Amino acid sequence: RADADDPARAVPIGNAALGLVPYGAATIGYALRRDVWGSGYAGELVALLRDFAFGPLGVHRLEARVDVDNAASIRVLVRAGFRLEGRVRHDYRGPDGWRDAQQYALLADDPPAGSAVKGG
Ligand SMILES: CC(C)(COP(=O)(O)OP(=O)(O)OC[C@H]1O[C@@H](n2cnc3c(N)ncnc32)[C@H](O)[C@@H]1OP(=O)(O)O)[C@@H](O)C(=O)NCCC(=O)NCCS
Repeated sequence: RADADDPARAVPIGNAALGLVPYGAATIGYALRRDVWGSGYAGELVALLRDFAFGPLGVHRLEARVDVDNAASIRVLVRAGFRLEGRVRHDYRGPDGWRDAQQYALLADDPPAGSAVKGG
């Protein structure tokens, strides 16, 4: 988070990853510290990753997988223009067993969605 006057004291609020996969595609993942949830940062983050992927990286297809019960993350993806492609069975094993996920993706030439940034 911006500690505006002293960047050296800035405290990370989470992490995000963008992974390139063959050919012309990329995947994104992100997690924020619990105390900043609901502030709109995830929307900003996904918008930045999306614009970086489709801009400088020249990616054509951007993918994200999200647990079927993760309504907040699904909302963030949909707001950024991602479309639901289908259910991935037993995508990963959580503490309580295997979990299904929803596969979302956005193509570079999909019609633009509204801004992913709250208030934007
Ligand atoms: C998913 C995560 C990144 C969302 O972060 P966030 O800062 O709360 O996201 P934002 O504030 O940008 O937006 C959340 C949106 O989901 C909505 N939302 C939150 N909880 C919700 C719920 N239980 N049901 C439906 N919508 C919900 C919010 O209202 C908001 O929608 P809005 O923009 O229309 O108001 C955060 O919860 C997180 O890090 N979770 C743990 C890791 C994780 O799940 N990562 C994603 C893996 S794909």
